[in-house]
Amino acid sequence: MSSIINYITKSRVWRSFFRHGWPDNPLDRSLVMTTNVFFHLHPVKVNLKSLKATYSLGLGILTVAAFVSLALTGTFLMFYYVPSVERAFPDIVKLQNNVPFGQLLRNMHRWGAHMMVLTSVLHMVRVFYTGAYKPPREFNWVVGVVLLILTLGASFTGYLLPWDQLAYWAITVGTSIASYEPMMGAAIAKILLGGPEVGQESLTRFYGLHIMVIPALLALLIGLHMWRVRKDGGLAANDLDQPPADDGQS
Ligand code: HEM
Repeated sequence: MSSIINYITKSRVWRSFFRHGWPDNPLDRSLVMTTNVFFHLHPVKVNLKSLKATYSLGLGILTVAAFVSLALTGTFLMFYYVPSVERAFPDIVKLQNNVPFGQLLRNMHRWGAHMMVLTSVLHMVRVFYTGAYKPPREFNWVVGVVLLILTLGASFTGYLLPWDQLAYWAITVGTSIASYEPMMGAAIAKILLGGPEVGQESLTRFYGLHIMVIPALLALLIGLHMWRVRKDGGLAANDLDQPPADDGQS
């Protein structure tokens, strides 16, 4: 048995996946972390406190999970939804009543959106409470603020898509509030609506923003945000009782 394991772990295919030996010494333990894209998110050495579930409450990761699930359920919703003022609402009704698991799909997308807003706000509160916004993490705080604005933007643009009365009037009210912004209000409202009032042009623009522009920016900035966590020496709790971990990577 041990010779088979030995044969497999010495094979070229195995070595192309795992470029380190069994992690029973400091060098291989470090290589496990630095050669794996997921583990690489953590520094090689971390303070035990930063690993406790009660420190971060996993709120950032929960927000990432909500984003991934929204991207998946949103892609399936696109199979059934056409962004036209004639078809949008009947398509949603058809999805709920005629498509197997259609109602589940729609509800997963809607509740996922609520969850993403909730977890990102709670994550921001946690970061503030633990003082993790202080140097050297102030840039990541700013990236976080942009992420929160984009998350709210995704919820707002998605709200119009069912093209029901609730959506229509919510967007009418929302964009008229935007138009009261003193300097560029009127221009912002016009750019969002594509005309003087909510209509087909607005639906096309909100759809484009909702399925392409905002998710692409979110994906890009979430990547930057997580990379910054890594380069700032892991979570702020790492700095508490010991100097930031030095693994030669950051
Ligand atoms: C789409 C929204 C967001 C996502 C997906 C996200 C994701 C994450 C993840 C996965 C972490 C690692 C630690 C953890 O799980 O708590 C993290 C850390 C951090 N986030 Fe966010 N975040 C988001 C929004 C925000 C917001 C709104 C802020 C603040 C305005 C923020 C500021 C930070 C900072 C400063 C850290 C480092 C925390 C530390 O060192 O303890 N993030 N974020």
